[in-house]
Amino acid sequence: MSEICEVIVDGEIHEAKEGSLLIDLLIEEGVKIPYFCYHESLGADGNCRMCMVGIKGEKRPQIACDTLIKKDMEVFSNTDVIKKVRTDILELELLNHPVDCPICDQAGECSLQDFYMDYGLHESKVEIEDKVKNSKHVDLGSSVVLDQERCVLCARCTRFTTEITHTNELGIVGRGDSAKVTTMPGRELSNPYAMNVVDLCPVGALTSKDFRFSQRVWLLETHNSICHGCAKGCNIYIDHNKLKYKDDVIYRFRPRKNLEVNGHFICDEGRLSYKDVQENRQEFSTFNHIEVEQDIAISKFKNFLEQHHKNIHILIDANLYTEEIEAILEFAKSIKAEVFSPLEVYTDEGFADDMLKCSNRASNYKTIENLNISTENPNNSELIINFNHPQNFESLMQIDFCTHKSDTNSLVFAIAAFTENEGSLTNVDGITQQTQKAVKKNNPQPSIIEWLTRIDL
Ligand code: SF4
Ligand code: SF4
Ligand code: FES
Repeated sequence: MSEICEVIVDGEIHEAKEGSLLIDLLIEEGVKIPYFCYHESLGADGNCRMCMVGIKGEKRPQIACDTLIKKDMEVFSNTDVIKKVRTDILELELLNHPVDCPICDQAGECSLQDFYMDYGLHESKVEIEDKVKNSKHVDLGSSVVLDQERCVLCARCTRFTTEITHTNELGIVGRGDSAKVTTMPGRELSNPYAMNVVDLCPVGALTSKDFRFSQRVWLLETHNSICHGCAKGCNIYIDHNKLKYKDDVIYRFRPRKNLEVNGHFICDEGRLSYKDVQENRQEFSTFNHIEVEQDIAISKFKNFLEQHHKNIHILIDANLYTEEIEAILEFAKSIKAEVFSPLEVYTDEGFADDMLKCSNRASNYKTIENLNISTENPNNSELIINFNHPQNFESLMQIDFCTHKSDTNSLVFAIAAFTENEGSLTNVDGITQQTQKAVKKNNPQPSIIEWLTRIDL
């Protein structure tokens, strides 16, 4: 077993595992270190040479991403020599770079921009017209577009397809200034995780067709959440923006690192599921498809409860937050209703794989099981109160609490979607995770808990 040892970085003592990567220590301890090709999920490749540091006893600077920690190692990250080395390497990286920053989607989250501000600030020795020209819009497939002029050939994207998805769609062909990322003739980038290459690309060479040119990243607000696409519970960032006089809109979901759950990645279907959250929303309470005031909806609700109080069945969506499910159980107890959450409707065997995607598409079905809620179908119901469950069952009367439009004639209460609310979910492996409330709509709908409080029986 490797031992913890002391390492001196720029005169400060740090502790690290002997034999671990020096770059990991520097990143973890917040030591400023530029790098393109290294990524925690892909390991070292050593091709960009940006992560050079001085090491006591070594004649030349060494790359931190391929240097193993040794006992009593002394590292220098900010000497004049190291700064000069980084400046020179950066100049090489930028030699043929088109400097598209004003129109580049990566601007604001681009490593090349950041490193230029730290180590560059030089005049280019190559005139714009003398730079090597390359394709600006290569459709790789899977909604990913490649700009070959912006690429720094770090090989993160190609290594992702060889080492992570094992689909091998991408490669680098050619040498020197003819080298470029490409797919083989007739092949496409096509796998269920392909869009992760956009996040991996440290510059604006790979962009998502879905997001490109839609927003400047510095206008976006970011909140932590959990994908509701399946029971894996991948950690995501919700990037959203409320422009003046407009509504708060989600522009993208991005993976959020959690080594216990999803590592660094999410699937493309989960990534694009932000669209479903926003489309076809139930935006006000209705009765027989006609909008009704909240107070009227609540009094109708109470009337229906009185009329059918002997036989009430409650349906619970297995995607609701645990706090909401618990509040519904309390409510059910108070009106002596039976509670159901049929889970079969969420099963999708064709969706599952051995990377992240689960065949159970309900993000909180574990809580339904943990709370011993019946997963049978309700039958012989007089009144069904459906809390966003996707299935409908026969009954004399139905009341819906839903995020999205339903075609039932029932009394409908519009509720907040998971992005407009917060709570906890337990994933397929029994890990409980918390989300943040992200989106603040102009016309916010109450959460289930807020509705039940307002109904106040
Ligand atoms: S496209 Fe991006 S990730 Fe791929 S090699 Fe070029 S810079 Fe690296
Ligand atoms: S694997 Fe499941 S939880 Fe993860 S991103 Fe895809 S749909 Fe969402
Ligand atoms: S990050 Fe070390 S060589 Fe690229």
